[in-house]
Amino acid sequence: MGNANEKEVPLMDPVRSDTSNGMEKIVSLAKRRGFVFASSEIYGGFGGVYDFGPMGVELANNIKAQWWQRMVRERGDIFGLDSAIFMSPRIWEASGHVANFSDPLVGCRTCHTRSRADHLLEDVGVLADEKMSVEEINKIFDENKAKIKCPKCGGKDFTEVKLFNLLVKSNLGDFSSEGNNPAYLRGETCQGIYVNYKNVLDTMHPKLPFGIAQTGKAFRNEITARQFIFRTREFEQIEMQYFTTPAEDMKEYEKLREYRWNSLLDLGLKAENMRWHQHENLVFYAKEAYDIEYKFPFGWKELEGVHARGNYDLTQHSKGSGVSLDYFDQEKNEKFIPHIIESSVGVGRLFLAVLSDAYAEEEVEGETRAVLHLPKALAPIKIAILPLSKKEELSAVALPIFDTLKKQFACQYDETQSIGKRYRRQDEIGTPFCVTVDFDSLNDKAVTVRDRDTMKQERVAIAELPAYLKEKLG
Ligand code: GAP
Repeated sequence: MGNANEKEVPLMDPVRSDTSNGMEKIVSLAKRRGFVFASSEIYGGFGGVYDFGPMGVELANNIKAQWWQRMVRERGDIFGLDSAIFMSPRIWEASGHVANFSDPLVGCRTCHTRSRADHLLEDVGVLADEKMSVEEINKIFDENKAKIKCPKCGGKDFTEVKLFNLLVKSNLGDFSSEGNNPAYLRGETCQGIYVNYKNVLDTMHPKLPFGIAQTGKAFRNEITARQFIFRTREFEQIEMQYFTTPAEDMKEYEKLREYRWNSLLDLGLKAENMRWHQHENLVFYAKEAYDIEYKFPFGWKELEGVHARGNYDLTQHSKGSGVSLDYFDQEKNEKFIPHIIESSVGVGRLFLAVLSDAYAEEEVEGETRAVLHLPKALAPIKIAILPLSKKEELSAVALPIFDTLKKQFACQYDETQSIGKRYRRQDEIGTPFCVTVDFDSLNDKAVTVRDRDTMKQERVAIAELPAYLKEKLG
């Protein structure tokens, strides 16, 4: 990081579709089955922004619900919050974002594509981290120029590296401070947590250590928004900031690292696809920083950050606002600014990791079936009710089953196309159970329940169905 330079760099890059990084099948399924759509598609798209479709919104909501359950409801020492996207511009100055929240960009002189210099260096095996000044990055970029190629045209003639600030400005009127400060769309959700620390302390009266958690949208001027929903300009973050005494922060940090690792396993991610990455070159205030990396189809990349931030954030906001953010320890008769450890992850990134982990192709009777082996709790649809054909006598049995089950579970009723095609469709969206109503059902008052993973079928009495499925779905 260093001084931001916002000149000469256009805000938009062309809409990119990455089809050469192992993501094709997941991207295609996500579109085909209504998980993810490119933003503003009928207008030619809007780079770096995506929409969650009918299946995607269910999956994203289930991921967030599981996070909230683990991080808030099951804890007792962590409080929820939903702070606003717009905040006083002074917050972004005090936090250091106005001066330092930037990416190093370089332009290709042949095709005029802007790329992240640190990413181009990473591609040739050279580390350029966020702590480096623009001069340092320019130096290592020059030293490695012979190996670096423009990802679009393969050209080797580059402009100088310049820093580009990531904060997204708005033209919302700001009447709260003197001067002409722009209001920003928040660049990270945790600033809303820091500035509400005192409110939570004064209303909930917790003792240290305690945490504040929230999920919400964040916005960044990412110039190379790529790799599908991995890096986008508008994204949802789920963050938890844990406030501790200075003496106990590293002990709590180790506990949080373990807790977050296990929470990701609970989400169904395979341990062999996760690893810890320790930051070598820490920003000046950080005490320790690890990321959990995930093995995405395009390689190992950061999924979640778990960082020990010292007392930097509250100190900055205390100075910026002029309000004391001290904690008073009554037993020890001591005042101090709490230290913070944080966990931070993007919903889109988690969504992509969950999809990548769940996606499989299997040979079934000479055909390939694509299936999402999603954990049942995350599946967008838990049960599909499928009458064998559109005949009225079958829907007369199937519709009341749908009406009963939909009150308890996310269900889908589908009577179009052949039963085989409908099974494939449900496999592709990860539906754990398909309930088929056939002509025998009219006499035996039973249905066939098909398990997504084993594809085994079981005959179950209609009267027993809700209890049977409840037990299976947990
Ligand atoms: N409060 C700390 C913070 O915001 P960060 O490393 O910039 O740290 C944390 O972001 C997490 O947010 C990342 O690990 C990633 O999961 C997600 N994230 C960050 N930028 C993103 C982007 N442009 N698109 C999608 N997710 C992003």
